[in-house]
Amino acid sequence: MDYGLLDQTVEAVRAAWPAARPRAGLILGSGWGSVVDAFDVRATMGYDALPALGRTGVAGHAGTLAWCESAGVETFAFCGRRHVYEGEGWTPVAAPIYLLRALDAQAVLLTNAAGGIRADLAPGDLMLISDHINMLSSNPLIGPHHKAWGARFVDQSSVYDPALRDHFTRAAQTAGLALKEGVYMAVTGPAYETPAEVRAYERLGADAVGMSTVPEATLANAAGMRVAGLSCIANPAAGIGHQPLSHADVAETAAAAVPGMKTLLAEAWSCFSST
Ligand code: HPA
Repeated sequence: MDYGLLDQTVEAVRAAWPAARPRAGLILGSGWGSVVDAFDVRATMGYDALPALGRTGVAGHAGTLAWCESAGVETFAFCGRRHVYEGEGWTPVAAPIYLLRALDAQAVLLTNAAGGIRADLAPGDLMLISDHINMLSSNPLIGPHHKAWGARFVDQSSVYDPALRDHFTRAAQTAGLALKEGVYMAVTGPAYETPAEVRAYERLGADAVGMSTVPEATLANAAGMRVAGLSCIANPAAGIGHQPLSHADVAETAAAAVPGMKTLLAEAWSCFSST
């Protein structure tokens, strides 16, 4: 982790937006950048102005930080995320959480697109993450201990805040949206899984599989932030469906879920006013 670059990123935001005091953060994954339209946006900044984030290399990941507000909650929305599979280490992946923590935000919602493993998870479904399995073969907390991430040995018995989960479940009911719950497994990608891997992951307890979210959740939980996670089931995981997987199809299904996601966030965002 390059803390020099991370601190420069914090300074860049403080210099550009000295009045910013985000209470919550939102990380928008594949195809979900336009969800930020559900917020009142005060200002935006390209990731190229943020040294630790740089430019995102993946189609569908816009690469813009929006300083915005909903339900009276000042929010930083990261439209586009950096992934471990890009091969640039933890710094770009950790940058949003490091920045949020430095500016004293108390909570973060992590979103992603995922492959559905559990039989009832169909493309287009929204799944609230109840817990995760880290299959990245690594952990972003490895390395010299840094005070930003709290204790050296971090408790992870409740990474996804139960009160936030309740709130999202009730908000979905109020908005008339179906919201399932499940366990998200993170793999490195960038290749999608083989059918044999998906069968193995199912036995391990995964309901959905994707290539993100777990590093950010691990860091935000370590930093003492409240964490919520939402997956859009973009496809049946390999071997469950009969189609070959493609990023274009994943992005298309995630894009089709944007209206429901906007409705859900508009209804649910007040939960962060108490954080
Ligand atoms: N596997 C891994 N990551 C993904 C998938 C998948 O099937 N769909 C969207 N992201």
